[in-house]
Amino acid sequence: MDWILPLLLSLSCAAGVPLSRAASGQRNRLLLISFDGFRWDYDRDVETPHLDQLGREGVRAKYISPPMLTMTSPSHFTTISGRWVEDHEVVHNMMYNAKTNLKLPHQKTLTRSEWWDNGVLPLWITAQNQGLKTGSFYFPGGAVNYGGQAVNRVVVEDPRPANETEWKQNIDTVLSWFSEEDFHLVTLYFGEPDRVGHQKGPDHPDRKTMIRLIDRTIGYLRESIARLHLSDSLNVILTSDHGMTTVKKRPEVEELVLNKYLNLVKLNSFEILDYGGFGILTPRPGKEQDVFDALSKAPNLTVYKKNEFPESFHLAKSKRLPPIVVVADLGFNLNSRFIVYVNKGDHGFHNSEMDMKTIFWAVGPDFKKNFLSEPFDSIHIYPLMCKVLQIDPAPHNGSLSVTEKLLLLHGGCQRYRVSVALLLTLLCSLALI
Ligand SMILES: *[C@@H]1O[C@H](CO)[C@@H](O)[C@H](O)[C@H]1NC(C)=O
Ligand SMILES: *[C@@H]1O[C@H](CO)[C@@H](O)[C@H](O)[C@H]1NC(C)=O
Ligand SMILES: *[C@@H]1O[C@H](CO)[C@@H](O)[C@H](O)[C@H]1NC(C)=O
Ligand SMILES: [Zn+2]
Repeated sequence: MDWILPLLLSLSCAAGVPLSRAASGQRNRLLLISFDGFRWDYDRDVETPHLDQLGREGVRAKYISPPMLTMTSPSHFTTISGRWVEDHEVVHNMMYNAKTNLKLPHQKTLTRSEWWDNGVLPLWITAQNQGLKTGSFYFPGGAVNYGGQAVNRVVVEDPRPANETEWKQNIDTVLSWFSEEDFHLVTLYFGEPDRVGHQKGPDHPDRKTMIRLIDRTIGYLRESIARLHLSDSLNVILTSDHGMTTVKKRPEVEELVLNKYLNLVKLNSFEILDYGGFGILTPRPGKEQDVFDALSKAPNLTVYKKNEFPESFHLAKSKRLPPIVVVADLGFNLNSRFIVYVNKGDHGFHNSEMDMKTIFWAVGPDFKKNFLSEPFDSIHIYPLMCKVLQIDPAPHNGSLSVTEKLLLLHGGCQRYRVSVALLLTLLCSLALI
């Protein structure tokens, strides 16, 4: 009877394609793509045949919610680590030090390990520690070391404007890592449609033109995946970090200039304002209450003491955030002394605002077909990626139960295995009797 159990087990599991492959030692791969600032509804007023096809052949969420703070680096690092911003501490796109007044622009921050490496391991490193090969093309957080360990293959972001030819070349490069070099996980980042959203505003025709370009790029990606015979082994997740909203300007509204409400030089020792809808301030010693009170009188914004953040922000534990954080009402930019902001669109606002919601699509051998998911928080993408890659996740704040509905046969084979084993045990004991 010794041979019956293994035989039945392998027969029963052959039905579940993804898991049977796992049993034979071949693991499906994952490409995570992010298009920065892709608001959840950007494909509703443009023809997007390739994205539509993605939805039919895979899964789509109605929308997903980024964490507070709805900014590029904080949100991307939550996606790739499954940790709240208060835990990973990448609290801004700009590396700063409130004591020394150091401020580095986003582009420079991308290669500074001391900003990103705060004890939370991103998926690349966790996967590498379990024997997988990983790469990052332009992805925020991919170009630094974690505990001294680098991602296997890194291309640092080149912030040049969108160029369809170069985008295709980037896709060719990334797919060759899978087809020729056996990579398991690659993350790929595009700086659009964030840039056009800032420059022209989300309602401008140029934003629609950009969505058409992105749609063609997705078409090229899927065509290339098929041409390279990767369709049966490569899963693709397409997501983003936040949405975009139109900046309110005069004469429609009175723009916010914080120096009108408090003397910034007298009361503050450090600040980052003039950076969209979200701002941080370090009051001079003993001035915390004065700053709080003065800003509480300002219209069209909410001021928070760090230790009094709403629970849902998951920011209160952060050591890096200064004592005062300001979140403007939707569409109001926070200006410090005068209006320097030329942006027509922006983000950084409350993550419950629909304009801050963003996208999620997934397609590949492990995902359901033509499945529309209810909205979920981006923090739950991390355990889903670990499941697809069949690795043990690092400690995280997501929940696989939220996202495993997107998968084919989630654990079904395992449950089947248990019942087959039980049945066989029963049969064997009957036979023995
Ligand atoms: C786009 O990139 C290609 C390849 O690098 C280059 O030859 C071309 O001139 C670029 N086009 C534009 C409009 O910048
Ligand atoms: C902004 O604040 C002013 C003053 O309190 C108020 O009258 C106005 O309605 C607010 N605007 C918006 C768009 O909420
Ligand atoms: C997030 O996960 C970390 C690691 O497991 C844990 O220490 C932390 O308490 C979690 N945060 C919340 C809000 O549950
Ligand atoms: Zn942006």
